[in-house]
Amino acid sequence: MTFKPAKWPRKLRSQEWFGGMSKDAIYHRGWMKNQGFPADLFDGRPVIGILNTFSELNPCNAHLNDLAQRVKHGIYEAGGFPVEVPVFSVSESGFRPTAMMFRNLAAMAVEETIRGQQMDGCVLLVGCDKTTPSLLMGAASVDLPSIVVTGGPMLNGYYKGERVGSGTHLWKFSEAVKAGEMTAEEFVEAEASMSRSPGTCNTMGTASTMASMAEALGMALSGNAAIPAVDSRRRMMAQLTGRRIVQMVKDDLKPSDVLTREAFENAIRTNGAIGGSTNAVIHLLALAGRVGLDLTLDDWDRLGRDVPTIVNLMPSGKYLMEEFFYAGGLPVVLKRLGEAGLLHKDALTVSGETMWEQVKDVTNHNPDVILPADKALTQSGGVVVLRGNLAPNGAVLKPSAATPDLMVHRGRAVVFEDIDDYKARIDDDALDIDETCVMVMKNCGPKGYPGMAEVGNMGLPPKILKKGITDMVRISDARMSGTAFGTVVLHTAPEAAAGGPLAVVRTGDMIELDVPNRRLHLDISDEELAARMAAWTPPAPKPQGGYAQLFHDHVMGPDTGADFDFLVGCRGNAVGRESH
Ligand code: FES
Repeated sequence: MTFKPAKWPRKLRSQEWFGGMSKDAIYHRGWMKNQGFPADLFDGRPVIGILNTFSELNPCNAHLNDLAQRVKHGIYEAGGFPVEVPVFSVSESGFRPTAMMFRNLAAMAVEETIRGQQMDGCVLLVGCDKTTPSLLMGAASVDLPSIVVTGGPMLNGYYKGERVGSGTHLWKFSEAVKAGEMTAEEFVEAEASMSRSPGTCNTMGTASTMASMAEALGMALSGNAAIPAVDSRRRMMAQLTGRRIVQMVKDDLKPSDVLTREAFENAIRTNGAIGGSTNAVIHLLALAGRVGLDLTLDDWDRLGRDVPTIVNLMPSGKYLMEEFFYAGGLPVVLKRLGEAGLLHKDALTVSGETMWEQVKDVTNHNPDVILPADKALTQSGGVVVLRGNLAPNGAVLKPSAATPDLMVHRGRAVVFEDIDDYKARIDDDALDIDETCVMVMKNCGPKGYPGMAEVGNMGLPPKILKKGITDMVRISDARMSGTAFGTVVLHTAPEAAAGGPLAVVRTGDMIELDVPNRRLHLDISDEELAARMAAWTPPAPKPQGGYAQLFHDHVMGPDTGADFDFLVGCRGNAVGRESH
């Protein structure tokens, strides 16, 4: 840790708007005063943007206005001037064609929202899956002092006395209905049991994973990730975050001071320990790109190999975020990583303390939720990166959510050309498929879907589910919901729509998955593969115009984070010319 706080007082960038007696300064102050802000708020104190992703069409973030008020309290208490700024809110559960298509758009909007306006620091008020990475990416590209506070997970769901987890049980119940084990009426009743309070998904899905990543990166206060949305301590966390950002501005503690290689390595190992979502791979690669770090898929495989999954949460385990919080939450996991020599203890955090200073004295209150290492869900919990002639640029698999017996498997490919083809044929009992086959779906990557939807965990054919079989090897260039499970190979790169080898797999080809040796192989000759690739043509016309075309033309592959090529890097926060 080499960070040295800046001297205070000094002139802040907000004074480029609010300072002095020029016509422009009076214009900037005067218009703000129509909201009743007293004159002394413009005197050079830190102006803090509370970037609020509230939206009633983003139910996971619909309670954030309340938290924004607590952040404001904290900012005022610490002598800052809070301004609440709504930003583009990407809802996982509603956005079409898929939320991932809009992560980069949100990041771009956030970046310009920060840079173009009179802020000295930012509180990133986030929750649902894409809101956390998009705001982190935008803030990292501006590099003003920034801190994350998340909305927190929903309370536990219960149905017929059993815990039901967001997403995880949606997939389970949906397959139970197909298998004839659950009625449609029971499904509707269970649906209401799953979401019984405000907040984000209560499993270790992508939202909880990304909240954990923000904390493990050092970008949120310690303990933030697991506090339930409706717990009073969530409001306290918001208020303390408001207090802290003011001091961060005075110290000039920026994302680039926190988001170091060591921070990313801590986050990657944390993802293995919590059994986190494969979506974290894409988001952290993209975030690293924003701060100019050369993070790769191979870093994920290398760093995750020795990390046991010790957090016993769905979808890999049995508990939910509420119990993770009661057990002590992420600080306990970080302490355990530190004790195992798997944590960069000196990594700086937004609190101004090192990671180890924050977590070294915490206690595990429930060893059935945060397990001892010898009882880990899997000893090698990190995301596996597979390569081979089917995925020259890599593909990922989450071992803690997979079936051990399928980790080495050779099977006959049953190919779906795209998601529509899959939906049209999967329920047909005449489909020539059995449980030894490998389900392959093409054209669901960034360019193909478009947007790289969470459809990689293709539901199994009903005729196989009725035999009581719940997992098969599945391969695609799609993503998978962090709440989902199965022996599912994802993010196959290059994607089919960009001409990757996945595009030329045919039904009847043999495919070999060998997780211990990190291999994904299409068993045809090199000559045959080359001939098929030479004959390949792109599947659909390129979008003409609008955001869809921008996305298609500039999105990069999943192996580098699927950011836009022109958004990589930090562009800084220099103030431009006068606004009028
Ligand atoms: Fe928003 Fe899960 S859908 S957090």
